[in-house]
Amino acid sequence: MINKTGRGTWANRWTFILATTGSAIGLGNIWKLPYMIGVNGGSAFVLIYILSILLVGIPLLMTEVMLGRRMQKNPMDAMRDLAKESNTSPAWRYIGAMGMLTGVLILCFYSVVGGWVLSYVSQAAQSSFTNITGTESSSHFDALLASPLTLLFWHTIFIMITMTIVARGVTAGLEKANNFLIPSLFAILLVLLGYSMSVGDMAASATFMFTPDFSKITATAALNALGHAFFSLSIGMGSIMVYGSYLQRDASIARTSIYIAIADSLLGLFAGLAIYALVFANQLEPGAGPGLIFQTLPIAFGHMPWGNFFGTLFFILVAFAAATSAMSLVEPTIAWVVENTKVSRKLAATGLGLLIWVVGVAVLLSFNIWQDVKVAFGLGIFDTLDKLTSTIMLPLGGLLMAIFAGHFMQKQYSQQELNLKKSSYQLWRLANSFIAPIAIIAVFILLLTS
Ligand code: PFF
Repeated sequence: MINKTGRGTWANRWTFILATTGSAIGLGNIWKLPYMIGVNGGSAFVLIYILSILLVGIPLLMTEVMLGRRMQKNPMDAMRDLAKESNTSPAWRYIGAMGMLTGVLILCFYSVVGGWVLSYVSQAAQSSFTNITGTESSSHFDALLASPLTLLFWHTIFIMITMTIVARGVTAGLEKANNFLIPSLFAILLVLLGYSMSVGDMAASATFMFTPDFSKITATAALNALGHAFFSLSIGMGSIMVYGSYLQRDASIARTSIYIAIADSLLGLFAGLAIYALVFANQLEPGAGPGLIFQTLPIAFGHMPWGNFFGTLFFILVAFAAATSAMSLVEPTIAWVVENTKVSRKLAATGLGLLIWVVGVAVLLSFNIWQDVKVAFGLGIFDTLDKLTSTIMLPLGGLLMAIFAGHFMQKQYSQQELNLKKSSYQLWRLANSFIAPIAIIAVFILLLTS
């Protein structure tokens, strides 16, 4: 639907929920959360992750939707106008600028991983995983990383798919895709979970993920868990703000945010449970890192009845989920360009797509030819982009939004937009003015001093 100002709006509240869930659910749930759990000590990470979602994630998700819907503009202009409305400094608009940069930087590595998924769609469809063993599956993945041309091919296809949908515009492109995507992804994950339960070591998986081992809580694990809560919910960079800007005025922000956070967390935890059941049953390494799902899932699909069919379908759905998240990563920038310049949506999408493609090439080379190139803190290109965005830029963006909403935005405006009962409003305000800022700053300090 197109409204008076020529901006699209979501057809109804349900479509907004699906679209925002589509932004939230992506590689973060299926690819990143499972391997981060393994790298960061299992249950300790899961515990901090869940706390971060509850105490920081949900309140900030509400804040971003609220900020976006109030001004119905791209994040940078919305922040400028919100600051003006509350008689405070226009410099708050730089939150929007930082968000645009964050989204673009994330997509530079996200699209490379999206390419891995596409390559796995093609391999599953060609029955490459039939009866595969753990060792074979690992070398399969290593072979993919070692081949710059294959990576380049799939990375290019991923960017092309994403940018084509982005160019078509928010409502036309996104609504249709999301309506079937999320329910199907849940359904196939349940099939996978059922299979892992029957052949994998589900007890070991559940113990690994849910029996708290406080000795494993470190500053790095805490920062990674907090950062991942931001990454997974797509908060801290304006994606949700821009989606909120397309939302009609009558929707309940609180309820919507809670639905989204529950769906997002459940999907990630289901994926984790299914994957670790396979890891433990096949003597694989839980701390294998970014390749974890690509090494474990082919084993499941290679052995289950109808495995080629389920495997292909699974990777197709993950690729779509990645694409709907990828779109939301560039939407703040695209909305800004379209609303402030004469450049068309199509041209903006093409230009940005090219830029991201180029940086993405450097990222994919960091798995092979440029393996030894270190950018910052001794990290390679891929790791630098990932750490910089997930553990610094997203939490920082979230921190600033929380401080703005909790201390600088006039109460009457946030109250009007959120439309909450007094006690719930006070809880939201407490989370934004104190809990979230203190949690984020504490984790930053912990890391700097550890
Ligand atoms: N939430 C997405 C995922 O979990 O895959 C990734 C993402 C999208 C992060 C949009 C940040 C964002 F603004």
